[in-house]
Amino acid sequence: MNLAKVKLFALIGDPVDQSLSPAMHNAAFRALGLNCAYVALRVPERFLPDAIGGIRALGMAGFNVTTPHKIGIVGLLDELDESASLVGAVNTVKNDRGKLIGFNTDGEGALRALKGKIGPIKRKEVVLLGAGGAAHAIAFSLASAGARLTIANRTVPKARAFASTIEQKLGINVEVISLARAKLTEALKNADALINATSVGMYPRADQTLVSASMMHRGLIVNDIVYRPLLTRLLREARRAGGRTIDGLGMLVHQGALAFEIWTGKRAPIKVMDSAAKRQLRGESM
Ligand code: ATR
Repeated sequence: MNLAKVKLFALIGDPVDQSLSPAMHNAAFRALGLNCAYVALRVPERFLPDAIGGIRALGMAGFNVTTPHKIGIVGLLDELDESASLVGAVNTVKNDRGKLIGFNTDGEGALRALKGKIGPIKRKEVVLLGAGGAAHAIAFSLASAGARLTIANRTVPKARAFASTIEQKLGINVEVISLARAKLTEALKNADALINATSVGMYPRADQTLVSASMMHRGLIVNDIVYRPLLTRLLREARRAGGRTIDGLGMLVHQGALAFEIWTGKRAPIKVMDSAAKRQLRGESM
């Protein structure tokens, strides 16, 4: 690697020290022989405008954005791609000869992971757990692809507000339910896929799940976006019910691959990125 000519990429967020993105992207750069490097930079919320000024001044080639900056960054960029303007949040920025362009690859990443198991999304019945940032990106992509969406959330008014935003922007109907067992069981009867976009089941509370095996049917595709641990309680319940599972690395690796393609214009080495992420997760003591 010629460090005098290196193209620099980064993740900005707070915290970032647990991120799998540096491992994934550096492995991909190496695999394609690109003179690029990717680092994780902790940026406290109050420093976000300074950080973006710094990125411009240093001529960094691109960066990812994570919590808590995905929405705050929108006003600091020069342009938004359709993927980002629809969701109102950005996870990927490309520096296009001094112009910072925001994208959102989270939703499309989740969609690609799902498509691998379910095939075309159009008219598929999907139950989505959660109404936070991750759920927003996933819901917009699913709805845009023609899925029939039911959003289940602990705080129902939050899910209602979110559903009506999707309805207004895309002109489609979105169902909203609570997390009550009876409601979820009913919705899951006709569902093709279930996606958990809440933090329930994440380490250290890995024994938790919002849905148990008795509420699922054989053939249901269950996708958890939680990847610490990789095999969550929800995914274990799904297997017990005879369902098929997609773990949290599916969305993570695909959103990273899409970012890589935006930055480099080259096809991302998905398997290399997936192995790098898995290697790092395996090395963690959990
Ligand atoms: P992210 O940006 O990662 O999506 P977030 O915006 O904080 O994070 O959203 C977290 C989601 O997990 C929300 O849907 C939250 O439900 P509420 O909207 O009711 O807060 C959900 N969540 C977190 N902890 C939960 C719990 N113990 N039970 C049910 N839902 C939970």
